[in-house]
Amino acid sequence: MSAPVIILGIESSCDDTSASVIIDGVSHSNIISCQSVHEQFGGVVPELASRAHQQNIVPTVQAALKEAGVKPRELTAIGYTRGPGLLGSLLVGSSFAKGMAMSLDIPLIEVNHMQAHILAHFITEKDGYSDIPEFPFLCLTVSGGHTQIVKVTNHFEMELLGQTKDDAAGEAFDKIAKIMGLPYPGGPMVDKFAQEGNKHAFKFPRSKMQGLNFSFSGLKTAVLYFLQKEVAKDPDFVEKNKADICASVQYTIVETLLGKVKRAVRETGIERVAVAGGVSANSDLRKSLLALQEAKKWRVYLPKMQYTTDNGAMIAISAHLKYLEGNFSSQGNAPMARLSVEDDFGWKS
Ligand code: KG4
Ligand code: ZN
Repeated sequence: MSAPVIILGIESSCDDTSASVIIDGVSHSNIISCQSVHEQFGGVVPELASRAHQQNIVPTVQAALKEAGVKPRELTAIGYTRGPGLLGSLLVGSSFAKGMAMSLDIPLIEVNHMQAHILAHFITEKDGYSDIPEFPFLCLTVSGGHTQIVKVTNHFEMELLGQTKDDAAGEAFDKIAKIMGLPYPGGPMVDKFAQEGNKHAFKFPRSKMQGLNFSFSGLKTAVLYFLQKEVAKDPDFVEKNKADICASVQYTIVETLLGKVKRAVRETGIERVAVAGGVSANSDLRKSLLALQEAKKWRVYLPKMQYTTDNGAMIAISAHLKYLEGNFSSQGNAPMARLSVEDDFGWKS
């Protein structure tokens, strides 16, 4: 039997420091240290994020190794997020990964964060569970910074079919939550209050963006003006109607996303649909996708909840797949704040 492939994955692109150990494609740990320092500011403060990554990275990596029962010298390779993300945050994870790979004299593998959200679908659990998509498939990638429809032909062959021209879906959730006075990150709060609300209570506009592209900034402005008008009449309007506002906003965002997914399926003829990124944790989006699977006989792939928001396991599985292809990175590669889902650097051995 050949030696197991043991990968340490490090994620530090935004406000979560995360590390994971994946052995032969099976997740053995996925430690996520969330940064609470940003809550008081209602959003991520980049400089505070990089400082918190510096504090968190050593204990997070140690915890991931310990939970997996793996010693550093047993690692086969180290994967890290090269981009896209906040440059200061990326620098912490990439410098740490480079130093560790150099000291252990093992390969370093850079990972594209947007590809990694999609490749999280290739993780197998310790109990043997997996739901790995068949190629080609479409992926709706919805995070705090991105909203994309991607055609995935192979692990690293991805084509961007459409994307947002302004705010991302997660950003729309967060900004509208902020307008309502809800704490950051707003997406999970809107989801929670929406459970008790009527999604048809208020009608908000849906953008008419062409083709497979999205726009969410108009919705944010519409909600802002609507609430300003109502609060002028009744200062308690938001508090009294919180659940209905959340349900109506969530419905508008989810219907907009799914309208484009239906169009992408029609245009490509591909009926396998995955969803990825923080907003894929949204309960209405998940329910609606399962309903479409029933109604349209699509095959829908929902990530496990722990792989929706940023996590080290998605970086480790991406590095694992690259390792199998002999796709490594140079120590000289600098992190990149901007990177397309189509970009795959590195060199094949
Ligand atoms: O993928 P992610 O963790 O980070 C980025 O790469 O941006 O996504 C974070 C985004 C935030 O905007 C957050 O509000 C949103 O995902 N989010 C949700 C839910 N959980 C997280 N949005 C709607 N419903 C949720 N349950
Ligand atoms: Zn992300």
